[in-house]
Amino acid sequence: MGRLTGKVAFITGGARGQGRSHAVRLASEGADIVVCDVCGPVEGNQIVPSSVEDLHETARLVEELDRRVIARVVDVRDLAGLEALAAETMAQLGRLDIVVANAGILNWGHAWEISSDDWQAVIDVNLTGVFHTVKATVPHMIRQNQGGSIILTSSTAGLKGQPFTLHYTAAKHGVVGIARGLANELGRYDIRVNSVHPHGVRTDMMEAPGLFAMIEAEAETLGPVFMTTLPHEAVEPEDISAVVAWLASDDGRRTTGAQIPVDLGTLNR
Ligand SMILES: NC(=O)c1ccc[n+]([C@@H]2O[C@H](COP(=O)([O-])OP(=O)(O)OC[C@H]3O[C@@H](n4cnc5c(N)ncnc54)[C@H](O)[C@@H]3O)[C@@H](O)[C@H]2O)c1
Repeated sequence: MGRLTGKVAFITGGARGQGRSHAVRLASEGADIVVCDVCGPVEGNQIVPSSVEDLHETARLVEELDRRVIARVVDVRDLAGLEALAAETMAQLGRLDIVVANAGILNWGHAWEISSDDWQAVIDVNLTGVFHTVKATVPHMIRQNQGGSIILTSSTAGLKGQPFTLHYTAAKHGVVGIARGLANELGRYDIRVNSVHPHGVRTDMMEAPGLFAMIEAEAETLGPVFMTTLPHEAVEPEDISAVVAWLASDDGRRTTGAQIPVDLGTLNR
């Protein structure tokens, strides 16, 4: 018996990276998995797009663990698409216990040079996409009346003034607001809501040479913002998944409204 046997987890942005790692970890602990991803380019994202093949690979990895999986191409900007997937989850898998709002995009530039379109794109995916994800799933969890765990992927940028990504930093701070407000509204249903705050994670999103060049150019003044305490440059997707699995399981049953860092100590600076 795994910690999550009999549970169903709904994960956005799961074609690759952290989302895939969460799907595999939660499945390895016994959960059935619902995973979605846009699987293609998103205007305003400077990170290489994921593909349908990536999403199929996540599904294959879950099936290899003998867990059921629903994998669909859904954009988190599309509320109706998420609502349809949540309804399909209930129809096919019969329940919904864990939500991981993980989908995200990134671009960069000086704050005053960010275009309105890029600003809107990052807010639409990284903030409104999280709102859509909880809006589509929470009614099922309330109706189910068996508690649950909602985990929102923020960033260290959600708790400090990360430069050159003003839209991203604002959206990730906004995710903290969603987690805290929602935790208060859902507490009476024993549904917990927490945000996770990774430092750089070794995924495609870390392939951001333009951003690193901007940071490097101002290292003397801005270096401390990114300085870590532990002797590692980045964390692995599996490190985030371990925290997600803890929050999803009964081991995290008394934690809600919290911001959980996986940050190599950088938030302590
Ligand atoms: N990698 C890092 O250094 C880092 C650090 C802190 C926080 N994060 C956050 O972690 C989360 C996961 O990112 P990752 O590191 O796995 O990067 P990633 O680029 O590998 O994964 C992000 C996934 O989200 C998907 N996605 C993008 N827009 C979408 C949309 N509109 N609808 C549905 N899916 C969409 C992408 O296709 C991709 O598969 C993001 O929210 C990101 O902001 C990443």
